[in-house]
Amino acid sequence: MTGNRKDEHVRLATTQHSPQGPAPSGASPGHSQFDEVRFLHHALAGTDRAKVSLRTGFAGLEWPVPLYINAMTGGSEKTGEINRDLAIAARETGLPIATGSMSPYLKDPSTAGTFTPVRREHPDGFVMANINATATAEEARRAVGLIEADALQIHLNTVQETVMPEGDRSFGHWPAGIERIVAAVDVPVIVKEVGFGLSGRTVEHLAALGVRAADVAGRGGTNFARIENGRRERADYAYLEEWGLSTPASLLDAHGRGLPLLASGGVRHPLDAARALALGAHAVGASGGFLTVLLDGGVDALVRRITLWLDQLTALMTMLGAHSPAALADCDVLVTGSLRAFCQDRGLSTGAAKGDTA
Ligand SMILES: Cc1cc2nc3c(=O)[nH]c(=O)nc-3n(C[C@H](O)[C@H](O)[C@H](O)COP(=O)(O)O)c2cc1C
Repeated sequence: MTGNRKDEHVRLATTQHSPQGPAPSGASPGHSQFDEVRFLHHALAGTDRAKVSLRTGFAGLEWPVPLYINAMTGGSEKTGEINRDLAIAARETGLPIATGSMSPYLKDPSTAGTFTPVRREHPDGFVMANINATATAEEARRAVGLIEADALQIHLNTVQETVMPEGDRSFGHWPAGIERIVAAVDVPVIVKEVGFGLSGRTVEHLAALGVRAADVAGRGGTNFARIENGRRERADYAYLEEWGLSTPASLLDAHGRGLPLLASGGVRHPLDAARALALGAHAVGASGGFLTVLLDGGVDALVRRITLWLDQLTALMTMLGAHSPAALADCDVLVTGSLRAFCQDRGLSTGAAKGDTA
């Protein structure tokens, strides 16, 4: 059941990211609030490429690159193969990677082999397990143990569950659940959304629960309201498809609220990655777009895509004079349009995120 759901998620998510598919943001084709984040051009700011390093660090962790493959699959035969191929691409490019939700394994241990390839193919890499906030302490430890995870992601997905025909309807115990899981595992816990963003208030709450980092996973890319609507007999929750905070809006709202931030959700190209880093993220995740490249062109195509992103991110940092991903937060950034109005409404500074207060 869960395995079939995963296969459906893969099918419906990739239609959102294929060139012929609907605009991933659910807004007008091609529009993204990332476009409302503009670097101020300084013609003499550039540095030497040899001086630019992609290394990043947060919550006591060190990553070779500020880019990662975010949580997607596992639980069915097909998504096990996807996990294997994503992990090969991650290994070939040095990227950290997260598995999809390990709930299928926690319910049915015979699906273990659809998750273990992530560690097998990326033995020395940074690997993250992924569970929901209803998992018990023992289940959290089993998920981490199965793939010898270096960190544990917990996903928050109230909108998805609400639209999902068979979804959960009880969310009130999630904060206590997160606190229990944090205390039970010996790896850092990163809490993420699945495409609706994390507000500053949520991030503050997560910090108080002992979480070590927050992945805002905002609106603008894979749209789980639309995916779950696509699985209903009638798409009667269509009005929720515009719900949520975009990734840049989340970063602006959540910056300085007690946790280091990661950015994912609708990152279309290396410039979006640079914009997210300039807004204070320590690393940038991609899911649906990378999955579509993998399914359309195979592992080699995904390796080529990631290599291009890392090369162009280095080029942009060279042009901007940022010697490290963290230094992008010192660049002058202009926040325009609806994102600027959002900042004004929320009383947020529209200047670049200077350093990390977490
Ligand atoms: C096919 C698919 C399955 C996903 N499954 C999970 C999951 O199991 N757990 C989770 O935390 N996020 C899951 N996500 C959400 C992604 O991790 C990410 O937060 C979201 O897709 C936004 O990133 P994107 O716009 O780059 O796709 C999934 C995404 C896709 C495309």
